[in-house]
Amino acid sequence: MIKLLPSVLAADMLRMGEEIARVLDAGADGLHVDIMDAHFVPNLSYSPALVAAIRQRFPAAYQDVHLMMDNPEQYIEVFARSGADAITVHAEIAGDIAVILGQIRALGCRAGLSVKPGTPIEAVKPYLPLCDQVLVMTVEPGFGGQKFMPDMMVKPRPLREWGHTQPIPTDGVVNLRTAADCVAAGVDTLVMGTALMRADDPAAVIRACRALEGTP
Ligand code: DX5
Ligand code: ZN
Repeated sequence: MIKLLPSVLAADMLRMGEEIARVLDAGADGLHVDIMDAHFVPNLSYSPALVAAIRQRFPAAYQDVHLMMDNPEQYIEVFARSGADAITVHAEIAGDIAVILGQIRALGCRAGLSVKPGTPIEAVKPYLPLCDQVLVMTVEPGFGGQKFMPDMMVKPRPLREWGHTQPIPTDGVVNLRTAADCVAAGVDTLVMGTALMRADDPAAVIRACRALEGTP
C-alpha cells in the first residue's frame, strides 16, 4: 500500500502539536522529520528534542528521521534513543556509509540512504543489502516548497532491478499532481510537506494518493 509521511518541516512551528495530530488523525502512516545542520544543507531545522517530544505526545507515531548532516554518525544514537523508527543519511557524506547504516540497524532503527538530485542512483548500489529504504530526493535538500524535478523519476526502477525490495520513498514537492508520476516510476512511500501538512482536507489528499496504488 502507498505510504504517506507528512513532513513536519511544513508545519507552523508554534502549532506543531495540533498540526501533527491533524495529519495523524487524517490517516497518515507516520511523520517525516527533517534534520538540517546548516552545513550539508544551507538551512537549520530541529534537534533530537523534537523527536523526543513527538514520541512523548504521539507514542504510536512512526518517525522517519531524515538527517541532512555532514557528520550524521555523531548523532544517530541520540536520535535513535529519542524515538526515531527510521534514520536516513545521505550518500554524499564523507563518513563510512556501510558502517553508519550498520550502526543505525544496531540501534534498532530502519536504516535509510538518500541521494540528492545530482547523485546518480548507482551510488547506493553497493549499500543496498544494508538499506531498509532508499530515499530519492526530488528537490535539492534544504527547504520545502521548491520545484519538483521530474527527471529524478528514472532512479526508482534500477533499484528494483538490483533486487531492492524495501521501500522507495520520494521527498520534495510531492503533491496530488507529482504523486502520480512518483507511483508510476515505482515509488511506494510519499513524503509530503506543503501538500499534506497545509492541506485544507488532509484525509482527502491521503485518499487520493492511496488511490494511485496499482495505477500504471
Ligand atoms: C527538503 C526536505 C523535505 C521537505 C518536503 O529538504 O527533505 O522533506 O520538507 O516539503 P515539500 O513537500 O513542501 O517540498
Ligand atoms: Zn526530508
